[in-house]
This record gives sequence, C-alpha cells and structure tokens, in this order.
Amino acid sequence: MRAVWKSTAAAVALMALVGGGAVVTSAVAVDGSAIVSDHVSDFQLTDTSRMAHQLYYFDYAPAIVLMSQTNGSPLSRAAAAELARLQDAYKDKGVLFYMINSNTADTREATATEAAANHFMVPVLMDDLQLVGEQLNIQRDGEVFVIDPKDHFKLAYHGPLDDRFASARLDTSARVKTAYAASAIDSVLAHRPVANPRVEAKGGRLVALSERGKNNEHAAISYASTVAPIIQAKCVTCHQDGGIGPFKMDSYDVIKGQAPMIRETLLTKRMPPFFADPHVGHWSNDTSLTADETKTLVHWIEAGAPRGTGEDILKTHASSAPEWPAALGKPDVIVTLPSFSVPASGTIEYQNMVVDNPFKTDAWLRAVAFKPSARPVLHHITSSYSADRSLPPASIPGSSVGSYVPGAGIQTYNPGTGAPVPVGGKLRFSMHYTSVGRAMTDTTQIGYYLLKTPPEIIRRAAIISDPGLMIPAGDARHREVSYLEFPADAVLYSVHPHAHYRGYAVELTQITPDGKETPILSVPKYDFNWQLDYDLAQPLTIKAGTKLRVSWVYDNSTHNHSNPDPKLNITWGEQTWNEMMYFRVNYRWVDETSTHVRNDLQAKLTESRTVGSLDDNADGKVQLSELVGSSGAALRARFTALDVNHDGGLDANEIKASSAGAATNRRIVEADADL
Ligand code: HEC
Repeated sequence: MRAVWKSTAAAVALMALVGGGAVVTSAVAVDGSAIVSDHVSDFQLTDTSRMAHQLYYFDYAPAIVLMSQTNGSPLSRAAAAELARLQDAYKDKGVLFYMINSNTADTREATATEAAANHFMVPVLMDDLQLVGEQLNIQRDGEVFVIDPKDHFKLAYHGPLDDRFASARLDTSARVKTAYAASAIDSVLAHRPVANPRVEAKGGRLVALSERGKNNEHAAISYASTVAPIIQAKCVTCHQDGGIGPFKMDSYDVIKGQAPMIRETLLTKRMPPFFADPHVGHWSNDTSLTADETKTLVHWIEAGAPRGTGEDILKTHASSAPEWPAALGKPDVIVTLPSFSVPASGTIEYQNMVVDNPFKTDAWLRAVAFKPSARPVLHHITSSYSADRSLPPASIPGSSVGSYVPGAGIQTYNPGTGAPVPVGGKLRFSMHYTSVGRAMTDTTQIGYYLLKTPPEIIRRAAIISDPGLMIPAGDARHREVSYLEFPADAVLYSVHPHAHYRGYAVELTQITPDGKETPILSVPKYDFNWQLDYDLAQPLTIKAGTKLRVSWVYDNSTHNHSNPDPKLNITWGEQTWNEMMYFRVNYRWVDETSTHVRNDLQAKLTESRTVGSLDDNADGKVQLSELVGSSGAALRARFTALDVNHDGGLDANEIKASSAGAATNRRIVEADADL
C-alpha cells in the first residue's frame, strides 16, 4: 500500500513533510513520481501519570491513532472530546488512541491538570525531547496520525480529524462532510489504501519544534569533538574490551554501523540502562544521557552519522575494563565463590551459594565490588548476611552485603556510613545465571572494602514487599501496593526495586502524616535485565509517621514478550516464572549511631510491614476485603475476633496482639530470603 503523488507541488509539500530523511524513507519511482513509504520507528514516551508506552509493544493492535495536543487550546480541547468519541466507536475493534504533547512550554504537571480539567479520556504522551514530534512532523495541535502496525508501523494518515478541523476557523456545530481520520482508520482496518493519506490542517496552534528543518546543522555535528566524547563518557564503560556490552564501541566505523540500533535504543530509552524518570528525583549514580546528549546523538544519526574531521578518540583512547574498579582499587577481602558451569541452553534455577563469613571481627563495609569471570551468563546476584534464623529479625542489622547487576556491580556507601557484618554467621549469595548459546563456567569474586574504624552511622536496609500478591492471568496492568511506616525520623540513601519478567513499572512514594504524597522514584518502564540501585543525590529526611509506599504494575498479558506464561494466575515465588513484589530501601535512623544502636526502631518498622503489605488503600487498617492473598490467610480466619473495636478493620495494635498477626509478620519477613 503506497501513496503516489502526481503533482510536483504535492511532491514538494511531501518532501517537507518527510523532513529528516533518516526517519521515514522516501524515494523517487522510476516514473519520476515521489513514492513514500514512511514508517514510524519505535519510541517510548511517558504519559502524564508517569506510565510508559512503547509504540512497538502495540504490534497486536489493528491501528494506532495519535493526536497532537497542546494545553489551553480550544481546538485541542474540542479535538480531545472528538477523539474520545472515536475511541468509543472503535473500542470493539481494538484500535488504540493516544494524544501526544510535543510543546516544550507544556510541563507534564500542567498537562495533567489540563487533562483532568477537560476530562480527557485518552492518555497524553509527553514528547519532552520533541524527537517523536520531529519524526511525525507535527505541524499543529489537533493533527491526527493513523499508524498501521500490520504494515511495519506505516504512517497511513496525517491530517485533521475531519473537514471542520481542517479549516482555519473551527466550527464544531457544523456538519461533518469528510471524516478523514475515521475513514483512514476504516481503510487501515480493511487493509485498503487510505483515500487521503495527507491532508493539511489549517486550524490549530502551530507546534514549534526547535530542531525542525535543521538538517544541515545536524549534518555538521562533529563526530570527533561532540559525538565520540558522549559515547566515551556514557557508553564505553560497558561497550569495551572486558565490558558487559555485546559489542565494543572502539571506532567510528562501529558507531556508524550500529547507528540505527543506537538510535532505536535511545528513542525507546533502553540505553544507557538507567530507568528512573528524569522528572522525579536526582541520583548520584545516574548514568543516563542528558536530554541534549540524546538529541545530539539522534540528530547526528538521522543526518547520516557523518565522520567529519578530527581525531577518533574511541580508537586512540580504547581501553579495557580494569580488574577492580579504578575508583576503589584492590579490595581488603576477596571472597571467591564456587564455580558454576552454565550449559549452552535451558532454564537454570537460582544457585544459592553460602560461604562462611570471611571477616575475623565485626566488620563494616564501605564498598562492595563484584567480579564475575563469565559476565555474559551472569544475570544478577543478591546477597545477604545471615546470622541465625532463630534470632528475631531486629538483630540482623541490615542484611544485604552487596548485589551485582549487569554494569552496576559496585556499591559504595555514603561517607560516614557503613553496613555492619557481625562476626560469625554466613554470607548467602543468590546467583541468577542465564544460558547464552555456548557453555561457560563462571567463578565470581567479590571484593569487600572495609572501614578501618566503625562508622558513626549504621546504614540500615528494610524491605517493602507483598508475598501475598496475586496477578490474574492475562492482566496487562495489574497493580500491587505495599508500604512501610517509619516509627522515627530516618534519612533515606538508596532504593532498589525488584520484580521478575512481569514487572512493568514501579514507584516509591512518600506519604507524610498529613497525607501529602510525593514521589521519590518513578520507573515508568521496568526492565528485569537491569536490577539497579537508585542512590539519592541528596539523602532525604523521612519524618516519623511517614509511610514509604511502593506501587508495582505487572504485565501478565501475551503482549509482554518476556512473559513466561500469560495463562497463569501468578503468586509469589523466587523463580522468574513466579513473581515478586519487592523493594529495598537503605537509610539510617536519625537517633542511631554505631555506639547507640536502635534495634527497637528497626523492630517497630518491621512490625509495620504486616499492615503495610495488606492495607491496599493505605488507610492504616486492614479490611477483610484486603485479605485476599495467601499471606493474610491467618488473619482472615480470625478477623471478627481480632477486630476488638469492631470498626471493620484491623489496626497495627489489633494485629500485633494476635498470634495470627505474628504468624503473618513472620511469613512476610521470611519471604525476603527468597530473593
Ligand atoms: C551499564 C552497561 C552499559 C552501558 C553504560 C551502555 N550499554 Fe549498551 N548494552 C549493554 C548490554 C549488557 C547490552 C545487551 C543487553 C541489552 O540489550 O540490554 C547492550 C546493548 C546495546 C545495544 C544493542 C541493542 C540490541 O538490541 O541489540 C546498543 C545499540 C547499545 N547497547 C547502545 C548503547 C549506547 C548508545 C550507550 C551509551 C549511550 C550504551 N549502550 C551504554 C550495556 C551497556
């Protein structure tokens, strides 16, 4: 299905529409007419509620409709209402509808307000970098883009909703003469060519795309002095000899050859692997590209990735990954784990490796570095210090002794803090290996860096989890929430979400005692392959009585290509085909020092996990309707008897007073060891 333009004027207009030639392919046919086969390349954008949407995820849809939107525009508002009607009309056919805001003056918050005030029924995707706007060549608000996923995401239609929206002055009371968008959708659904694939919209506000038409400037971006330094700083740590990336970025030729893939990973926000929403929080270990860096790389690639002149620093400065992190040097204590042979194919169970605590006295960690010998097969490692299971959890002061994930196998603790490892006991490592098509044997070494003297501050860890989770078969956006309530002032240092292949998005929100909610971390699209820590650039004070609430969204549908089995109802389990609702936070108690240990506070915090994991509406009480999963079974059975004040909910005291409460709490705490 191709649109053929006959007249020269149309061809010129078309070439203008096509814009950056790398995005949509244009060609001149043998007969001299312009033939366009323009396909929208993949992208991922976040909507006003911080949820990610990736275009190619929707390959199952018969048609995808986007409409450009700007805030405060009467035409946008009228078009949004009209789009909602179209959405209703095509619901049964499975057509998907989104709005897209590429107007840099419209912040996400302002757009959320606009959406709420005008009762938008269609989500708005925020195109902060305007890269999608450039690709679609958005001219005005109210323009509709009909995309055909079944024809390689071809842009089947670009123009107004109907003839009323085409005219310079919108009259919504006028009768619709030509329903351009609806007829384009009908054509795509019927696999027929669209009668009018490009229609000019004269109404609507112009959307200013700051880089539009700057192809010559983009072609002049210097590889040597602009592009290569970005790659060197943000990509080469992994994409080098001995690094974990699948190819080395050690010359212009490699970059040029990988340019289309690089562009795709940037537009879909897969590389570099750091997934915190840049609008929420600041992270000291942020490895992502700045907005300008992303735009520079994408524009340079779209301009044909020209070499230009100057030294190729990727070649002249090519290096190998150092044995131990350059910043830390040689570790004080090195633990060598047993070797494990990973077969060429097949599923591999988590390997639990337990070693004796190697430290001769009570030790304090200031940093931990992991050094696998076969990085390609090592997916991740979590570890914990284990004293004696019969001890109450409060006497295990904060049990993680470091974790490894691809590219982030170093943990350094904030100055003045350290993680305690009491003498004796065991270190337990949960190793997740994956097959990569050839047999490999891994021997992982762990370098521990110790503090010479005990730190003033104890770095604590706590888990926010819900071992009672239940994700219905086929549900594409199932939400589970859980929280911890801090009994005393604390300072938050670092946070770490964990789920398996069905994890889609996750947020950590602070709810202060006055009920005010502030997001701390938002990961609009979670990737199981990257189990990252997010270290707060500025440690955050958590006031007594504050809840830290985690909200996980799971994709248990067939559209999640990593889903091991969308036909199953999913419950908690350590294997990747089960799920986890897990989130670690690292913090200190304000009133604790290493000479004044407050295990009492830690015990109270741990107690709060029972209510926190069950109380889905975060009202501080557990209603019978919230006792759905397995972890609340003991409480459900005795609910009426336990609800001493007969208010229809179990509060912390009612739960604490009962043996069923203690059993539930034990189950929650014990599930931590499944990671
Ligand atoms: C923390 C390590 C790390 C960093 C930093 C990193 N990469 Fe990667 N990259 C990987 C790994 C591992 C893979 C293979 C697994 C995957 O795709 O997630 C990969 C894959 C890729 C691929 C191939 C994707 C595919 O589907 O074949 C491209 C392209 C890429 N990276 C580009 C980049 C660019 C550009 C940067 C810098 C802006 C970058 N990477 C930074 C580790 C990294």
